Amino acid sequence: MSGATLAERPAAPSSAADGVHSRVLALRDGLEHGLIGCTGLVERLLIGLLSGGHLLIEGAPGLAKTRAVKRLSEGLDGSFARVQCTPDLMPADLTGTTVWRQDAGIFEFLPGPLFHSLILVDEVNRAPPKVQSALLESMAESQITVAGHTHKLPDPFMVVATQNPIEHAGTFPLPEAQLDRFLLHVVVDMPDEASERKILDLVEGELTHHAEAMPVKLSLEEVRAAREAALATYVSPALKDYLVRLVAGTRTDSVSPELRAAIEHPASPRGTLALMVAGKARAYLHGRDHVIPEDVAALASDALAHRIGLTWRAAAEGRTARGIIEGLVAQTRAL
Ligand SMILES: Nc1ncnc2c1ncn2[C@@H]1O[C@H](COP(=O)(O)OP(=O)(O)OP(=O)(O)O)[C@@H](O)[C@H]1O
Ligand SMILES: [Mg+2]
Repeated sequence: MSGATLAERPAAPSSAADGVHSRVLALRDGLEHGLIGCTGLVERLLIGLLSGGHLLIEGAPGLAKTRAVKRLSEGLDGSFARVQCTPDLMPADLTGTTVWRQDAGIFEFLPGPLFHSLILVDEVNRAPPKVQSALLESMAESQITVAGHTHKLPDPFMVVATQNPIEHAGTFPLPEAQLDRFLLHVVVDMPDEASERKILDLVEGELTHHAEAMPVKLSLEEVRAAREAALATYVSPALKDYLVRLVAGTRTDSVSPELRAAIEHPASPRGTLALMVAGKARAYLHGRDHVIPEDVAALASDALAHRIGLTWRAAAEGRTARGIIEGLVAQTRAL
C-alpha cells in the first residue's frame, strides 16, 4: 500500500474495542475447535455476523453445516431458532401469526422463528416461493409485516440458510434476484483424510464423554460493538478503485473480454458493497485496521459468484460462476 494511503488511516482502536476483539477471536477459536478443517466456513460465519449479513451455505449432507450454526449459537447470548423447510411450509410458519384471544377479547401476535437473533433455515430450496420471498424480504428489511402490522426484527439478526446441491427433485431453486440478498454464498467441501480422522476422534469423544462448551458467550451488545468496529475498518481510495475495477470486469471488457463474454447477468453495486463490507470484517478478524487486496481476493468468489449469471454457452461448456470470478480476480490489477 502506498505511503499516502497509509497516512490517511484513522487512529488505532481503543482498549474497550480491543477487549471485544479478543473475545471475537476466542469465539473463532472455539468454533474452529469443534469444526475440524472448517477454517473458511468459520471465518465466513463471523464475517456474516460482523457485517450484519446473511449466509447461504451449500454442501452435501453430513458436512457439519447444522453443527457449525448450532455451535455459533452456543457462542452467542442470543436466541436461536431452526427451521426445516418442506414444500408445505407457509409464510406464517416463519413470520408468526395473529390469533384471537377469546378470554381477553384481543388479537395477539405470536412471533415466529424469524424473531430470533440467529436462524438456521435448513434446505431453503425445499421451501415454496412464497416462504422464500417472506424470508428474503425480512432479511433485506429487518422487519416483517403480518396482518397489516409491521414488526421490527432483533438486532443482530442473522439468517444462515443451507441448501444441498445434489438434490433437484421437489426443490424450488432460489431466483437469482433473491440470491442477491445473501452477503456470501459459501460452498463447503468434503474433508481431507487427515481432517476426517480428527472428526472421528472428536465426535467419538463427544458421544462417550460430553461436548466441550464454547469458551466464550458474546453478548448481543458485544456483537454490536464488534460490528461497529469492523465497519469502521479503513478502506483506502485505491482499494475502492480496485473493488470497482473488479466488479466492472463482470459488466465490460475492461478486465478480460473472454471472461466477460461468459457472463449473461453481471453483478450489481450491491455485490460491490457486499465485497467491501465483508472485506472490512475479514480485516477486523485478522487484526488489521485497514482492508488489503488479499481480503478482497479471498472473498470475491463467495461475495460475487452467486450474483452473476452465465450465458448458456458458458454453462454448457462446464464453466462455473466461481471459476469466472476467480479468473477476474487473477487478471484485475490490485493497486
Ligand atoms: N468438519 C467437521 N467437524 C466436526 N464434526 C463434523 C464435521 N463434519 C461432519 N461432522 C459430524 O458429522 C455429522 C453431520 O453433521 P451435520 O448434521 O451438521 O451435517 P449437515 O451438513 O447439517 O448435514 P445435512 O445436510 O444432512 O443437514 C455430525 O455428527 C457432525 O458432528
Ligand atoms: Mg443439517
